[in-house]
Amino acid sequence: MSRLPKAILITAGTKRLGFHFAQASLAMGYSVVLHFRSSNRTARQWVQHHPEYNGKVFYLQQDLTEQPQSLIQRVRELPCRLTGLVNNASLFSRGDLFNQTHLRSMLEIHFFTPAQLGACFAEQISNGWIINITDALACRSNTSWQNYRMSKLFLEELTRQQAIRFAPDCRVNAIAPGAVLPSKDTKGASFRNLAANIPLRKTSSVAAITEAFRFLVTNTSCTGQIIRIDGGWHLTA
Ligand SMILES: NC(=O)c1ccc[n+]([C@@H]2O[C@H](COP(=O)([O-])OP(=O)(O)OC[C@H]3O[C@@H](n4cnc5c(N)ncnc54)[C@H](OP(=O)(O)O)[C@@H]3O)[C@@H](O)[C@H]2O)c1
Repeated sequence: MSRLPKAILITAGTKRLGFHFAQASLAMGYSVVLHFRSSNRTARQWVQHHPEYNGKVFYLQQDLTEQPQSLIQRVRELPCRLTGLVNNASLFSRGDLFNQTHLRSMLEIHFFTPAQLGACFAEQISNGWIINITDALACRSNTSWQNYRMSKLFLEELTRQQAIRFAPDCRVNAIAPGAVLPSKDTKGASFRNLAANIPLRKTSSVAAITEAFRFLVTNTSCTGQIIRIDGGWHLTA
């Protein structure tokens, strides 16, 4: 077996939740390959202040709408051994079934890209795992966010199908966050007000999400699961 360090590839891994998965991975002793599209500045600045992670963080820039599987090939050129894949990249925007262009873009990033990356990963890696990042509210109907939610539901089903198809060499699970970080649509008070509609009366902390992440990375009997970390939000009508 190769002596290269074990690494986790995280799509959109240089900021927000993706970067929290990266920090959790580094703390668990893994190297990380952080994919990004527009900027890796936040991650680079943080790594500069954490010399203990020198040589353990790699960056790959790519628009995932173009040949996503080539990302896995590029990782093979790095001095690390890929063991985990986190499909985290996402587009959070409104659109319904009358907007077919929007529907296609949602399916592209939330379904076809993770499907292609997952197949390429599973073909090349034995004893690995995949974590898909879905959304706790994917199952609730809401016409403004119809395409986003449907595409995340496809990702949930993809998780189950990958888990059965890629076993026994590769485990596949999903984390379905509720409201964790404000988006440009729900900033400030409007984000805080979401708590009133959540059964546990709070939005979910980043720590709660990374705890689920650590569980899925380390629990070698868990596959095909979708863990909702949302304070019970998906239970509400
Ligand atoms: N934040 C929450 O509270 C929350 C709640 C529920 C679910 N989630 C899920 O958790 C994950 C992370 O959420 P987040 O809020 O931290 O992320 P986010 O702000 O939605 O960012 C997603 C990232 O995906 C990248 N991306 C989009 N299209 C891409 C493409 N074609 N090629 C390459 N990169 C692309 C974006 O890159 P650019 O920056 O370059 O555009 C962006 O950095 C997502 O899957 C999201 O659906 C988050």
